[in-house]
Amino acid sequence: MPTKRIGLYPGSFDPVTNGHLDIAERAFKLCDELHIAVVANPSKNPLFSVEERVDLLKQTTKHLKNVKVSSFEGLLVDYAKEIKANIIFRGLRAVSDFEYEFQMALINRNLHKEIEVVFLVPNEKFIFLSSSSIKEVAKLGGDVSGFVPAVVKRALRDLK
Ligand code: PNS
Repeated sequence: MPTKRIGLYPGSFDPVTNGHLDIAERAFKLCDELHIAVVANPSKNPLFSVEERVDLLKQTTKHLKNVKVSSFEGLLVDYAKEIKANIIFRGLRAVSDFEYEFQMALINRNLHKEIEVVFLVPNEKFIFLSSSSIKEVAKLGGDVSGFVPAVVKRALRDLK
């Protein structure tokens, strides 16, 4: 019997952007079950709490059946083992992402031999998007419509 493809799309998602959702939709099509997991890493000093980030992801991925949104602490590969994921999905926007992602993929593979890392390329209209730039634009009063879903836009506005 073919192995069930259980995908894990991890990230900080602080907050989720339209670029993340584009990757989630692509990953969703490639596996039988998709987990989107928010890393609980307080050292990154996130703008939104883990609970808020999970909640925003849940609201914005409702249309994708069989997607589970959760959070994890510690090593990504340990969480992958816990949920029996056999594919890790990561988005690649530009060459500048590559070195960090390549290093992380190889470390993860050394830590967990059975996991496969799959890089997905977003629609080119999201190539320039990052959560950090969105936070800066929102903080300085710019319009983030088109970059993030409406619920995220509201959440950013409510922070002010
Ligand atoms: O959205 P991000 O911040 O680029 O996501 C980074 C993430 C969550 C994938 C990465 O920081 C991670 O896997 N953290 C868990 C700790 C870990 O497993 N580190 C070893 C891999 S180098």
